[in-house]
Formats: sequence, C-alpha cells, structure tokens
Amino acid sequence: MGKLDGRTVLISGAARGQGEQEARLFAAEGAQVVIADVLDEQGAALAKELGEESALYVHLDVRREEDWQAAVAAARGAFGKIDGLVNNAGILRFNELVGTPLEEFQQVVQVNQVGAFLGIRTVAPLIAEAGGGTIVNTSSYTGLTGMAFVGAYAASKHAVLGLTRVAAVELAAKGVRVNALCPGAVDTAMTNPAALDPDADPEETKEAVDALYRKLVPLGRIGRPEEVAALALFLTSDDSSYITGQPFVIDGGWLAGVSLF
Ligand SMILES: NC(=O)c1ccc[n+]([C@@H]2O[C@H](COP(=O)([O-])OP(=O)(O)OC[C@H]3O[C@@H](n4cnc5c(N)ncnc54)[C@H](O)[C@@H]3O)[C@@H](O)[C@H]2O)c1
Repeated sequence: MGKLDGRTVLISGAARGQGEQEARLFAAEGAQVVIADVLDEQGAALAKELGEESALYVHLDVRREEDWQAAVAAARGAFGKIDGLVNNAGILRFNELVGTPLEEFQQVVQVNQVGAFLGIRTVAPLIAEAGGGTIVNTSSYTGLTGMAFVGAYAASKHAVLGLTRVAAVELAAKGVRVNALCPGAVDTAMTNPAALDPDADPEETKEAVDALYRKLVPLGRIGRPEEVAALALFLTSDDSSYITGQPFVIDGGWLAGVSLF
C-alpha cells in the first residue's frame, strides 16, 4: 500500500531538482504523476524511466494559459482525472532591488506567481470534480522573511503564500486542501548553478557549498531535494488531512534565530 495509491498528481517544473524528487517519491508511493516542464528532453526521460503506467511527461510553460489547458487535457486523457497539484516550477534572479530591470522583475513574477495562480485556477476545479484532493504551492523561506539581492523572488514567494491562504479558504468546502512549502537552501541547480557547468570542478563546488551552509544553517548543511519531496508527500497524502492554508518551513533551522558565528 502506497500513501498515494489511486491519486493522480501534476507536478510543474518536475524535470529536475525538487520537482524530480517529488515525481519519483510520489510514483513510488503509488501515484500517477504528470511531469510538467519546459525541459522536454529531461522530463520525457524521467517519465520513461518511471514507466507509462505511472508517469506522463507534458510540455508546460507555467506562464501560458493554453499550456495549462493542454497539460490537463493530456493528463485526463492518460489517467482519467487529476486530484493533486504541486506548483513547483520557479526561477531565481539575483539583483539589488533598485538595480533590478522591470523586465527581470516581471519575468520572475510571471513564472513564480502568475504560474502558481494559473495552476490553481486551472487544476482546482478538476480536483473538486474528482471528489477532492490537494494543492501544494512552492514558496520559500524568502516568502516569510527578507533577504538581500532577491527582491523580485521574495516578492513573488510572499505572493505564493497569499494565494495559498486565499485558495485554502475558498476551496475547503470543495474538499481541496492547499498548503505551501517554504524551503531554505536546497541542493539543486537553483542554489548551485555550478552543478550545471561542465567546466566547474564538482569537488571544489561541493566543498564551497558545504562550507557556506555549515556556517549559516543550525543543522550544518544544505537541504536535499529528497527531504523537500518528503514534506510535499506529507501535504499531498491523507497524513495531513486536517491541515490547510499553512506555510511549512523546511530549512535546517535557518529561520529559527540569528546565528552568532
Ligand atoms: N533550491 C532552493 O534552495 C530553493 C529554496 C526555496 C524554494 N525553492 C523553490 O523550489 C522550486 C524548485 O526549485 P529547484 O530548487 O528544484 O530548482 P531547479 O532550477 O532545479 O528546478 C526548477 C524547475 O522549474 C522549471 N521551470 C522554470 N521555469 C519554468 C516555466 N516557465 N514553466 C515550467 N517549468 C519551469 C525548470 O525547468 C526546472 O525543472 C522553485 O519554485 C524554487 O523557487 C528552491
């Protein structure tokens, strides 16, 4: 018996990183997963590995309404229904707020905030139609606090928490629970772009990341995408049946207090 037997969950941005680990874990727990991303090659390879009984890849640019419509149509064609959504796709840009070009600010908002809105708007009615289910939005610890050089990102992640709370209140009567993940630093291409650079020395990169988070985070290390996937599973399964509208911080204690050293 898996925790998600009989469930069908669409995960945006699932070709790599946290979304990939969510897709792997959800499939292992019995769900049929719809892997949705703009990275077609990686997403299709992951779906193939998981097998067509368990996984389908769909091209989805979360900024585009028509992509959402096509993605849910493909998902329903393959699996008959959708009763779960993980809004995971996101991008990060570093810039001082007063130096951020409007275009860059809007680009971040389009993916992180508008993408989550379109996901909720498109998929929530189908989840209700299927008899209820869950939505998990991916915010960030910067959805709860400020951090220099990530103004557009932090604004969009604060907005994701606002969407989460409103959606939870509006959708509760339809049997749809809506919660949010607030990860701290997680070891993916987003925090560690050198991981994607074929010229970077992987050992050197790993040592630099390890040294940084040993200092910054009380638990002394960067988080693993598998650990975030475990929280997404909790919020998608019946283990969280009386929880809705909440942000869940998963950050190794980073937000717990000010570090002295
Ligand atoms: N890595 C961290 O430290 C961290 C911390 C807090 C929150 N987050 C959030 O977690 C989520 C997953 O990020 P990750 O760490 O796995 O990084 P990642 O860069 O490895 O994964 C992001 C995924 O989103 C996809 N994506 C980007 N733009 C898209 C679009 N327009 N349409 C569809 N897919 C798109 C990418 O192709 C990629 O597969 C993001 O929302 C991110 O903001 C990450």
